Amino acid sequence: MPLHVEENVSLRALNSFGVDARARYLVRVRTPRDLAALEEHKRLREQPRLILGGGSNVLFTRDFDGVVLRVELPGLRPCGETEHAWLFEVGAGENWHQTVERLLAMGRPGLENLALIPGTVGAAPIQNIGAYGLELAERFHALTAWDFETRSFVVMNAADCDFGYRDSVFKRALAGRRLITAVTLALPKRWQPVAHYADVAQELAARGVANPQPRDIFEAVIAIRRRKLPDPAALGNAGSFFKNPVVTREQHRALIAHYPSLVSYALPGGRFKLAAGWLIEAAGLKGATRGRAGVYERQALVLVNRGGAAGAEILALAREVQEKVRERFGIWLEPEPVVV
Ligand code: EPU
Repeated sequence: MPLHVEENVSLRALNSFGVDARARYLVRVRTPRDLAALEEHKRLREQPRLILGGGSNVLFTRDFDGVVLRVELPGLRPCGETEHAWLFEVGAGENWHQTVERLLAMGRPGLENLALIPGTVGAAPIQNIGAYGLELAERFHALTAWDFETRSFVVMNAADCDFGYRDSVFKRALAGRRLITAVTLALPKRWQPVAHYADVAQELAARGVANPQPRDIFEAVIAIRRRKLPDPAALGNAGSFFKNPVVTREQHRALIAHYPSLVSYALPGGRFKLAAGWLIEAAGLKGATRGRAGVYERQALVLVNRGGAAGAEILALAREVQEKVRERFGIWLEPEPVVV
């Protein structure tokens, strides 16, 4: 099958901010063979590349003068087990939330805390998605990726991916070099609820659930997210726009002395993670609107497209947030999405 190449395409429907940037070329990667075919394609193989999954963690501030590879590789199949886990290989193009739901329906829970996270399975390892007390890294076995330099498929385990908080080798040394084609997830054979996160515990209590089953957690997480986070189909956004910053014990002590209501979490090793949403709210920006870009009213860590915003407008608002938070607290917030 020859590659299907579209030219001068709007990416508006392909990014959750709903920004109307254009790509010079768009290739929908539907089978692993498309990747080898791309190398044979004279016009495309020398072009700058951008790999796109669900487009839920990217902000386009300009048109992309190159080839956008939209990963649409399908599939979900059991592929063995380890001592502690059932293994499932999932195509990188599968929708993350639907995968969580399908596995749950198959009697294979373990991902329910990560319900309703937008995006694809292939994008999940890149920023090591996490929510409500669980990170992908804890349910990850291996992945397969295409390497554009060696022109071959490679298998990577968790150590190769070097996962961190919203971070992996795919955001650093391997950025743009490897395209994830499939992810093997590890679902625990002895499932235990992950319900220590305050929001989850409160939601379960409010529902009168004392002994939570997988579906209780799944439904609780969905309810919490629906309350706090905007639905990208209704209001363009990319989830948290900034990472929660990590500070030293000394910085934390100094901040708390000035701002006793600061929300923070102690990390192993003596450092502290601060709630960036609190910092932004305290800097007076929650609910702010600048042109067609805004800071979400119910969660200040989320920037939104109030309708027709250009990526540059959203980026300008992000800069204002960074500068006001630095002026007030001396902390520089790092963006979570990829800015193109
Ligand atoms: N807060 C405020 N004002 C705000 C927002 C938050 O004061 O406007 C304070 C509140 O005290 C709140 C605390 O910050 O209790 C933490 O807020 P929340 O529980 O909403 O979590 P978060 O730290 O803002 C992180 C992730 C989310 C994930 C939630 C739940 C990051 C960058 N974000 O947000 O992930 O869903 O925890 O686990 O780590 C994403 O990465 O796109 C994302 C949505």
